[in-house]
Amino acid sequence: MARTRTLSDLKDGELEGRRFLARVDYNVPLDPEGEVSAATRIDATLPTLERLREAGASAVLVSHLGRPKGKWDPSSSLASVARELSRRIGYEVPLLTDPPGSRELEDRVGSIEPGRIALMENIRFHPGETENDPQFAEALASLAEGFVGEAFGTAHRAHASNVGAARIIRERGGPAVAGLLMARELRFLRECLADPERPFVAILGGAKISGKIDLIRAILPRVDRLIIGGAMANTFFRALGLETGESLLEEDRVAMAAELLESGGETILLPVDCVVAEEISADAQVRDCDREAVGPADRIGDIGPRSREIFSREVLNAGTVLWNGPMGVFELEPFREGTFHLARVLADQADAGVPVVVGGGDSAAAAAAAGVSGRMTHVSTGGGASLDLLAGNELPGVTVLETVEMASR
Ligand code: 3PG
Repeated sequence: MARTRTLSDLKDGELEGRRFLARVDYNVPLDPEGEVSAATRIDATLPTLERLREAGASAVLVSHLGRPKGKWDPSSSLASVARELSRRIGYEVPLLTDPPGSRELEDRVGSIEPGRIALMENIRFHPGETENDPQFAEALASLAEGFVGEAFGTAHRAHASNVGAARIIRERGGPAVAGLLMARELRFLRECLADPERPFVAILGGAKISGKIDLIRAILPRVDRLIIGGAMANTFFRALGLETGESLLEEDRVAMAAELLESGGETILLPVDCVVAEEISADAQVRDCDREAVGPADRIGDIGPRSREIFSREVLNAGTVLWNGPMGVFELEPFREGTFHLARVLADQADAGVPVVVGGGDSAAAAAAAGVSGRMTHVSTGGGASLDLLAGNELPGVTVLETVEMASR
């Protein structure tokens, strides 16, 4: 059996004096003034940066922000990220704005002192990035002697900075390893599927079945319980022939939901009641109702109190829990209790030593809004990447990294 080689596998001697290209995912939310409003993804890379620093390695950090489509766009500049990173590590991290392939950039990268880092401007300002253009990848690879893949959130993309450049550096004999965050993500997300303590309970929510169909199919045979909430449940309600009123629904996925209910049997658990309103808004007049009592003008915005209790009991009985997707529109106060209640119960379970893995994206935001992120066993920094990994898909940004044989026991 092989596993991905990580930064922890590199000895001090393999780091000292070496320059690394470190692909990070600093695709972080910005506030209306353009400042970083949530630095979770930055903080998550600090152990890797510290390891490089203490071993006397230097690094040029590469990230994207948003989807600027291969053109300079000031609203997607990483300038505020560089400021935030500087505050967090205690010295100024320069933002390198010269393009890959330019002498100016090479000179600036060449002058990064051992133990120090610099951040390149948004790599998606260049079309070669998302095209994984070989020349562009070469220009990036020529900046460093080693590669650290730390951008778990981008690992499902095959772009120049996380795949093309890594491959070239590796082919030249330089190390190409997973950073400490990437390694942690792989460990928790893979382990929770490979050998979970039972009962293994997965909780899926969010708006659509369509984005999660691969995941549902992959985990259904592995879990002891699959709890479904969020607007995704509405499509299952319709498959059961229930009225869903004006609720969000995927009409073209009703047949698929029916098939899943058929194949999943008793493993699938749907809400038995809901919180409904005539409009989904911050000042909506809500009422709790059984799922059979939803009226033609109703919109379902959350799971109801009985479902909260039933789902909580399942969680309290679980040996491992995977959570991906909120139970309702938790961003709005009238519809948040289902998600928050569940998040608190999950955190209690994690406190009690039960592995609770949160699959990133909206559920990570929900755990943060409920104030319990820090209590979970692991909260993924990846949205699409965690979905892909959990669905058993290959992640190009991981496949490109070196592997090491694991000692057999
Ligand atoms: C994310 O936020 O999911 C990652 O940074 C990937 O971003 P992308 O979907 O624009 O590739």
